[in-house]
Amino acid sequence: MACLGLRGGRDGRGVYFWAVAHDLPIDMTLPRADRLAQLATPLRALLEDEASGWANLANASAAVSSATGWHWVGFYLVDQAQDNLVLGPFQGPIACTRLFRGKGVCAAAWTHNQTQVVPDVHAFPGHVACSSASLSEVVLPVHNAEGDVVAVWDIDSADADDFSAAEVAALEALTAVVSSLWDSWTWSPA
Ligand code: SME
Repeated sequence: MACLGLRGGRDGRGVYFWAVAHDLPIDMTLPRADRLAQLATPLRALLEDEASGWANLANASAAVSSATGWHWVGFYLVDQAQDNLVLGPFQGPIACTRLFRGKGVCAAAWTHNQTQVVPDVHAFPGHVACSSASLSEVVLPVHNAEGDVVAVWDIDSADADDFSAAEVAALEALTAVVSSLWDSWTWSPA
């Protein structure tokens, strides 16, 4: 199934509709954490259906972006040869192309293999300001089947302190979906 589109239905109370995030069956009237939680199953179905890692990272970014409206949602991939992070598929304004070890939130998630939740980016030593509009962010490591960090998922908000514990937990579940499928994807054409 390339696109999902549950937009309405009928029950004992009559016909009903819910708002959708594009073609993903997300109830946009729910709180943001619940919308993210709702994404896990349809996102897995969408990403399982396609072998291209590029296409899947693009759609994963679009799914979270359209479900939340966060300022920047995207991936940086580990470039092992250069020992840095290179920009991958994303939704949002143009971003830094390369991120280097020891500098910024993405590099911290990569190096420490740990989710980074930053309520105030200006208080994070060495924060890389790709966009002056980003005030808070969360960065989650993505793993292959061996457990190596192969990418990070970077989500930035234009509001300070904009990531609740429930939202971070839901994002970790979505990241686990990406990680669990990573080894089944191909990167050609590269
Ligand atoms: N926030 C990142 C830089 C990437 S951009 O924000 C898209 C960081 O400090 O690592």
